[in-house]
Amino acid sequence: MELVTSIPRLRELIRDARRLKLSIGCVPTMGALHCGHGALIERARAECGLAVVTLFVNPIQFDRKDDYEQYARDLEADGAFCRQRGVDVLFAPSEAEMYPHPAATFVDAPGLSDRLCGKFRPGHFRGVATVVAKLFNIVQPDVAYFGEKDAQQLAIIRQMVADLNFPVNIVAVPTVREADGLAVSSRNRRLSEKQRRAAPALFRALCEGRRLIGCGERDASKVKTVIRRVLAAEPAIRLEYAEIVDSHFEPVRHIESDVRIMAAAWIGSTRLIDNLLAPVGER
Ligand code: PAJ
Repeated sequence: MELVTSIPRLRELIRDARRLKLSIGCVPTMGALHCGHGALIERARAECGLAVVTLFVNPIQFDRKDDYEQYARDLEADGAFCRQRGVDVLFAPSEAEMYPHPAATFVDAPGLSDRLCGKFRPGHFRGVATVVAKLFNIVQPDVAYFGEKDAQQLAIIRQMVADLNFPVNIVAVPTVREADGLAVSSRNRRLSEKQRRAAPALFRALCEGRRLIGCGERDASKVKTVIRRVLAAEPAIRLEYAEIVDSHFEPVRHIESDVRIMAAAWIGSTRLIDNLLAPVGER
């Protein structure tokens, strides 16, 4: 594996791979790698000739300074993680390499970016779409892998790729969970033991919502009430939002076809997100 920090060196490696007719797979990350990232990396390794992982804690997608500053950074551990999984190139540029001048051009998908998490994290998805567009232009992958855990992010990237004609195939990878259902996340490391014990209630609440929909409940507000009730039993958790959305990530009132239940919640100063696809049951 080669650790690359400069864009020109990365371009050389990509050019060499293209000459050898290798397909290029890219896994964009912000590091602090865990088995959720591992699932994406393993897909890229299995399906592509050249597996590239990018590691960049992107300052322009953070809406809170403390969250950016506290974000776990351990290049050595992340390098070992990638090497063990057969990654060919770990691209870990500095902030100066990615943003030699303060960013002045942005990619935005208004509408989709302003709902759900976007409502509570202004500018977040603009920062994500902009850095992913930059990474796609630098790595020029044939395939890029994203987790369903960040379902809204995935939808925005799909929208960007379609609207701006990026020649990249976007592959969605199912959410990797801990044994108790908690979606694996680098932010879970910030939870105290007590908070960690409380955290799976978020997944349990979404499961209860999915069960109701599967049993024939069609009123989204009733499903949301039950989700809120499950979470209310866990005082350590403060729900930020729970929403039932259609395939365009538009909130629905009446559930007519398969929907996705999306939620964000706070435990202390840690924000967790999760989502579940909820197929409609027979009435
Ligand atoms: P990061 O949070 O590091 O996540 C990188 C990728 O790993 C994302 O596609 C995310 O959905 C996926 N991922 C994280 N936890 C997962 C889990 N438990 N199961 C499956 N996939 C999981 O998302 C970002 O970084 C950034 O916004 C980025 C796209 C890199 C742009 O800066």
